Amino acid sequence: MSEKQERVVIIGAGGMGGVYFDVLDEMNVYEVIGFIDDDPKKHGKNYYDIPILGGVSDMPSLKEKHQIHGFIISIGNNRLRGKMGSYLENLGLKPVNAVHPRAAISRYSTYGNGVLIEAGVGINPHTTIGNHAMISLSASIGHDVVIGDCVHIAPNVVIGGEAKLGDYVDVGLGATINPTLVVGEGAVLGAGAAVVKDVPKNIVVVGVPAQKLKDVVNED
Ligand SMILES: CC(C)(COP(=O)(O)OP(=O)(O)OC[C@H]1O[C@@H](n2cnc3c(N)ncnc32)[C@H](O)[C@@H]1OP(=O)(O)O)[C@@H](O)C(=O)NCCC(=O)NCCS
Repeated sequence: MSEKQERVVIIGAGGMGGVYFDVLDEMNVYEVIGFIDDDPKKHGKNYYDIPILGGVSDMPSLKEKHQIHGFIISIGNNRLRGKMGSYLENLGLKPVNAVHPRAAISRYSTYGNGVLIEAGVGINPHTTIGNHAMISLSASIGHDVVIGDCVHIAPNVVIGGEAKLGDYVDVGLGATINPTLVVGEGAVLGAGAAVVKDVPKNIVVVGVPAQKLKDVVNED
């Protein structure tokens, strides 16, 4: 079967779902046959002319009914994205990647499954990006950077060479991370933050230079 025949769904029929659709449409590799959304008011309606088929808990039956092979998750909550990814993979579905053809990704860099990489993103050599990452417009990622699973990187973020970001890190609009620094798991970097020293896990930092604002409260 050619990949174009792989029938995939986008989890989340909100604004980010539209972004994922736009990138998949641009790639022209997968056939997007539906959106999945837990808001029952959306079920039966169309989004981008694509039907909203049901909720995530409907996936076992929807998978058979619509012969769905793959999925990608557009939900902004990093931990929820990870959990949902595991659930859907356990159903035998394949996480596919949405990588914009006009992202400039070094051939010496790698990324996992279920990732979004938007237009204008630049990634230098020997960088690794984990599963279910969301890398937004024009983020600039240096060489030998390590990015964990389920990370979100907002537009215009700049990450210096050899930096390391743990799983579930959330990097706000236009933040910068100096080279070689380590950002701990689950940390949140506010919009415009300039990170000039390592960030411990599960804290929110803001400002120039970035300072701790508070602890991250995880809902689970
Ligand atoms: C850092 C952040 C998560 C904090 O959100 P919050 O907990 O709701 O914080 P609040 O809005 O209550 O602000 C708390 C204080 O921090 C300050 N603050 C909040 N965000 C800040 C930032 N990015 N830079 C500097 N100061 C910031 C506020 O001014 C406020 O200060 P005050 O108490 O002196 O008035 C949020 O402001 C932020 O920057 N999010 C990133 C958004 C983003 O880039 N999204 C990506 C879209 S693709």
